[in-house]
Amino acid sequence: MDSIKNYISEHKDRFLNELIDLLKMPSVSADTAYSQDVIETANAVKEALEKAGCDITEICETDGYPIIYGEKIINEKLPTVLVYGHYDVQPADPINLWASPPFEPVIKKTELHPEGAIFARGACDDKGQMYMHVKALEYMVKTDNLPCNVKFMIEGEEEVGSNNLGIFVANNKEKLANDIILISDTGMIANDVPSITTGLRGLSYVEVEVTGPNRDLHSGLYGGAVANPINVLTKMIASLHDENNHITIPGFYDKVEELSTEERDEMGKAPFNLENYQKALDIDAVYGEEGYTTNERNSIRPTLDVNGIWGGYTGEGAKTVIASKAYAKISMRLVPNQDWQEITDLFKTHFESIAPKGVTVEVKPHHGGQGYVTPINTLGYQAASKAYETTFGKKPIPQRSGGSIPIVSLFEKELNSKTILMGFGLDSDAIHSPNEHFGVWNYLKGIETIPYFYKYFTEMTNK
Ligand code: BES
Ligand code: MN
Ligand code: MN
Repeated sequence: MDSIKNYISEHKDRFLNELIDLLKMPSVSADTAYSQDVIETANAVKEALEKAGCDITEICETDGYPIIYGEKIINEKLPTVLVYGHYDVQPADPINLWASPPFEPVIKKTELHPEGAIFARGACDDKGQMYMHVKALEYMVKTDNLPCNVKFMIEGEEEVGSNNLGIFVANNKEKLANDIILISDTGMIANDVPSITTGLRGLSYVEVEVTGPNRDLHSGLYGGAVANPINVLTKMIASLHDENNHITIPGFYDKVEELSTEERDEMGKAPFNLENYQKALDIDAVYGEEGYTTNERNSIRPTLDVNGIWGGYTGEGAKTVIASKAYAKISMRLVPNQDWQEITDLFKTHFESIAPKGVTVEVKPHHGGQGYVTPINTLGYQAASKAYETTFGKKPIPQRSGGSIPIVSLFEKELNSKTILMGFGLDSDAIHSPNEHFGVWNYLKGIETIPYFYKYFTEMTNK
């Protein structure tokens, strides 16, 4: 296994160029204008798995974009690792805020990535992180270092809710049977502070529509005499938090798991510099729920955020108008034990109940998923921890993330196995934002660390 470092330095340029080629493909799942590109990307992933050494690769058609399946089974008696990742990416807009075009990858140095980072949509989320596993497999197969069986399941609809993956998983339990699921689609604290993600938040995503008069009105002739849907919507939204930034929806916190003081103290030990945090975002203060630290607010506490709000006239100049309709998209990040369907229902009931006379309100649920927490006393976590310790020279810190990968809780339910989240991105890598990037060092470190996970997991399982 010591040969991994040599293998990487020998093939480094090719590893980078292959990823760059993958990043040139605009696999935006949310926008049908890119549907052909998404399908071509799926084919490219299949080919990459084949070349890396999978004995079987398949394009599994769904009602949406295909799921790529690959496997190399060396011995039925050995453990099986199932790797999950996604080849779809977020839309690139606002495109004018990118320093270089989102689908023309370039390598540039940054403060946190002195060895360079690849700038492109999907560089970190998740093509770069997914491809680390493909290259780690290549190394293990080509150098006869694969210690166990491996299966790959790479989907193309993660960024739009993984609706078809749930069906695929439920219908293919035998095919996907495994001893551990391995995902690199999260982050770590810093390049010199490795961490393993032990929790993900759940999600409920809804769209709301407020309708007032049957047509857009002159804001002079009718202003002050009829409900203005935008005024009403913003007032309703504002009422969803109280003065301490607690969410006011009745029942919202009923099932929220409160952490013990010990657990909170443990969490508080993770390195965090408030000043740098604020500086990186150009803000003069943080903001959030009273009684919790920044790291608690963005991991163990639930949230409610407007993601988009529109209505009325937003073009150049002024138009005096009272719009007939106003809209908003709202996400609620949930913590373990909160059920996303239940929270969606609570939101709907409450939001409809606070609508004043003179408007009608419609709440349309979009998608959602449950949160996830994984204990650290499992073989999978121990193996991952040892792998990081080997390649980073430091024991990784367990850390709960604020992001969501809703399919993870479904994996546990349907496939009855735990997921290990070995993320190598940084929060500052700008996933979902303009100028997304992934450190070259991080990419190669991931490729180096993954084979050790296989090694240690196999050894520990056989004990
Ligand atoms: N990879 C992210 C989730 C993530 C990123 C988790 C960083 C932890 C750390 C994933 O692709 C994502 O964007 N998920 C969405 C939810 C999904 C249902 C669209 C999210 O978290 O907004
Ligand atoms: Mn992702
Ligand atoms: Mn994402």
